[in-house]
Parts: sequence; C-alpha cells; structure tokens
Amino acid sequence: MEKIHSLTGMIDLIGHKTSKEDISERIFYAEEILRDIFESYSISEIRTPALESSNLFKRSVGDASDIVNKELYSFLDKNEKSITLRPEGTASVIRSVIEKKIDNDTHKLWYLGPMWRYERPQKGRYRQFNQAGVEILGYPEGLAELEIVSLICSINRALGIEDSVLKINHLGNNETKQNYCKALEDFLIPLSSKLDAKDLERLNKNPLRVLDSKNLNTQAILKDAPKIIDYLSEDAISILNTIKDTYSNDCKIEIDHNLVRGLDYYTGFVFEAVSSSLGAQDSYLGGGRYDELCKQLGGKSLPAIGMAIGIERLASLAKTYKDNMTMVSFIILSNKIEPKAYKIAHNLRSINNSINIDVQLSDGSLKSKLRRANKDNAAYALIIGEDELKAKKIIVKPLLDKSSEQVTLGLDEIDGFIKKLK
Ligand code: HAM
Repeated sequence: MEKIHSLTGMIDLIGHKTSKEDISERIFYAEEILRDIFESYSISEIRTPALESSNLFKRSVGDASDIVNKELYSFLDKNEKSITLRPEGTASVIRSVIEKKIDNDTHKLWYLGPMWRYERPQKGRYRQFNQAGVEILGYPEGLAELEIVSLICSINRALGIEDSVLKINHLGNNETKQNYCKALEDFLIPLSSKLDAKDLERLNKNPLRVLDSKNLNTQAILKDAPKIIDYLSEDAISILNTIKDTYSNDCKIEIDHNLVRGLDYYTGFVFEAVSSSLGAQDSYLGGGRYDELCKQLGGKSLPAIGMAIGIERLASLAKTYKDNMTMVSFIILSNKIEPKAYKIAHNLRSINNSINIDVQLSDGSLKSKLRRANKDNAAYALIIGEDELKAKKIIVKPLLDKSSEQVTLGLDEIDGFIKKLK
C-alpha cells in the first residue's frame, strides 16, 4: 500500500516533555512566552478563520507581491467560490474589524496560528508555518511605533536572543512614496536591459521591490539610484532617529534605507529583525505601518501598525528554555488494583499542579517501569502494589538524588510530601 506522508514543507510538532533541546518543545515554550508578553502589554487576542475569500489577499497583500502572485493556497469550494488558506494575519484582522463595524475605534490585538505559503522549502522556510502577530489599530504615527519596538525588545530579552539586528526604514506617506517610486522607475527603465527577469517584473509591478533584489548586478546598479532619504519629510527621518535613540541600550537597531517589505500595504515606518544565525532565511519578524489598508478594504480610515513573528525561526534562536517541572512517575504493580490506585494518583494531581505526575499506563515489570521513569528524568517513583494498597501505604523511591533512601509513607502522609514538591 502506498505510504502516506505529510505534505512537502509541512511539519509535525510533537512535544517531548523531558527534552529541553526538542524543537517542538522550544516552539511551544516560545508561544507561551509570547502570549504572556502580549497580555502584559494589555493586547487582546483575536482569532480569525484560516480560510478567507481569495479577494481579501489580492486586495491587501497585493497583486504585485510574490505571496499573491505565486504562493497562495487557493481552491474553489463546492460553490465554485475561490477561497484561500491565509498567507498572513493582517488582512483578516482588518476584514474582521470592518465587518464588526469597530473600525472607528482603537484596538490592540494579537493572534497566533498557522499560515500557508507555497514557497520552495528550505531551512527555516516552510509551506505551513506559525506566526504570532500584533496589530495596533487607530493610532497615528508616533507612540504606537515606540510600543511595537518596545515589544520586539521585550521578546528578544525574554527569549535571550542577542544576535539580532532590527533594521528600520520609512517609506514616506502615500505622496512621498509615489514620488520616490516614480524617480526610481525613471532611473531604472533606461537600465532595464541589465536587469534579470525577476527584477524586471518587480520594476513593472512595484519598483520599490527592486531595492530588495538579491542579484549582485542589480545591487551595483542601485548604488547610483535615487535614495528614499532624499524624499522623506523631516518628521519621517526624526521618527527613525527617535526609535533608534530610545532603544539603543536594549536592541541593536540599524536604519536601512534599502529595506522594503514583500507586502504591498505598507506606508511609513517599516522594519525587519534579522539574525545571522538563521542562515539564508534570516528574518524572524517583520512589519510596519499600513494606514491605507482599512479604507482600501472598504472600511473607515484607520491608522494601523503591526508585526508578525515567524515562530519556528524565533524558537530556533531562543536561548532560554522552560524549566522542566518536577516529574513523579506513578507505578501501579498489579492490574487488580488499577482503578483504586489510579484514584490515588487522581487525588494527588489535585494537590499540586506545578508538578507533573505521569501514571505509567502500560503493563510491565517494576524494572521496566523504573527504567522508563529514569529515562524520563523523573525525580521520584511512587510505587503501589496490592500489599501497599491493603496497608494504605505507598513507596516513595528517589531517582535523581542518589543519597536519599526509599521510604514508605501512609496515604495520609503522601499528600504532605506531594504538596512540598516544586
Ligand atoms: P512577513 O514578513 O511576510 O510579514 O512575515 C513575518 C514573518 O513570518 C517573517 O519574518 C518570517 O519570520 C515568517 N515567515 C514568513 N514566511 C515564512 C515561511 N515560508 N516559513 C517560515 N517562516 C516564515 C507578514 O506576514 C505581515 N502580516 C506582518 C505584519 C503584521 N505587518 C503588519 N502587521
């Protein structure tokens, strides 16, 4: 029979409680830390569906972007309607606030979940990946920019990420962006014979994206191209300098006027955090201001700024781990006493929920069960057989502290023992 595999670029995350190095555990831990940080900034959760109407992404992320051009997972549903697995979360958040008619108010929202992009898989690049995102809605340029960068610094600090640079740029308002795009186009069109097919396509669809070219010839050509800084207002330059100065002790920040984003909706402040330890896919978060998007999707004029973090990349950079909970392995020696012995474990669990009580569910000898407990790094084995149950006792065998002796405690004493464990 043909074997069924997971789809290319889509991975399973399977936890392994006792291994700190396990990438799935690191991902789950990073998600916990992010949730705590978002809540500590008084940001509320939003959950939107994974499937949306395809038009949503065409009209937001943009026809010119690689995401919409080549990477959408789009299908016809049974009604012949084109639907798409979300490639990112921002468009859905804005669709949702418009639909709920709350696009006239301020909101701070976070989300976490899988996104899909039909990309060429490689290290750090998947077709299904997880993003945590934050959208701060209703606040014009200023403090909201400082709040977003503060969040990034807090995330880096909490996860012990040191090898990171936050690149920041400003794309100007709509008018300056248009003027700059026009100047860039006027400069590049006479040189189009020297551009490769990909950069030519970018020039036709969104000239700003040429600045992001990886082609060395294009990069050499761009050295003489008009610079965005010459088109920016004093306010725009000042916000970049303010951000850099405010966080100079917390985060390494570089102003990079070649930084452009792969999604079309940005206006104003944009950023990406990169780390050289990630290899070719070096950006672990990115975002910026997108003041026009809400109106563009049929809502009110709603200033907005946000970011999204690639969880797999973030977790691989994290240097802090979750402290493993103390594990107690609960061993039942006879299947004749199983429900009664299980009830004891059930009661112990309610006494102290900061420890981990693993009831070994399979049959097997005491020796094999102790072997399993040792493998799982259990601190204690609690052992109960027919004799112990009759005598209302339980054996406590220390497994990590070799200097401690095994003891037998009465069921009335075991509660106190469990309560004291941390
Ligand atoms: P983005 O830069 O397209 O922005 O994605 C954000 C992050 O998602 C990237 O920095 C990267 O870490 C991760 N990521 C993207 N594609 C992949 C992939 N194929 N495999 C693994 N990780 C990936 C956005 O999505 C915007 N919605 C961010 C935003 C929110 N802007 C404003 N608000």
